[in-house]
Amino acid sequence: PSPIALDGDIDDEYTNWYAVKSIQYEIRSHWSNSGKLTATVVFHVDGETFEVESKGEATLMELALRNNIPGIEGECGGNTVCGTCHIVLQKNEADLLPAAKGSELDILSAFDETEATSRLACCIRLADVPPEMSVAVKPLF
Ligand code: FES
Repeated sequence: PSPIALDGDIDDEYTNWYAVKSIQYEIRSHWSNSGKLTATVVFHVDGETFEVESKGEATLMELALRNNIPGIEGECGGNTVCGTCHIVLQKNEADLLPAAKGSELDILSAFDETEATSRLACCIRLADVPPEMSVAVKPLF
């Protein structure tokens, strides 16, 4: 799907979401000896790079929101209700993550435009991403 151009009619709340044309996340996760997860995530958004750290468990959506990364919304707070955290994974990467199920599948099936590797970022736990795996995603619009 092509990005939607900003025309001034779109609710301000969604400005960041619609404005982003390309976004990539590189996730490097590590478990310490004490069992704590540390994840470094590098977001590439329309040519800008943001590197953030997550200590402890988090989802990709939570990390993006906490760090004000443009391109991902999470209107329902990760309750798999709104679908504003929809992303599309690359095929080879999607296969490495636990498959979508339950309410995530319900939300995705309600969208008109999805791809085989569509996911909700609020359902992607950093702990499930294999160490050093790079996850390239694009927003829905
Ligand atoms: Fe609402 Fe993911 S944040 S479905």
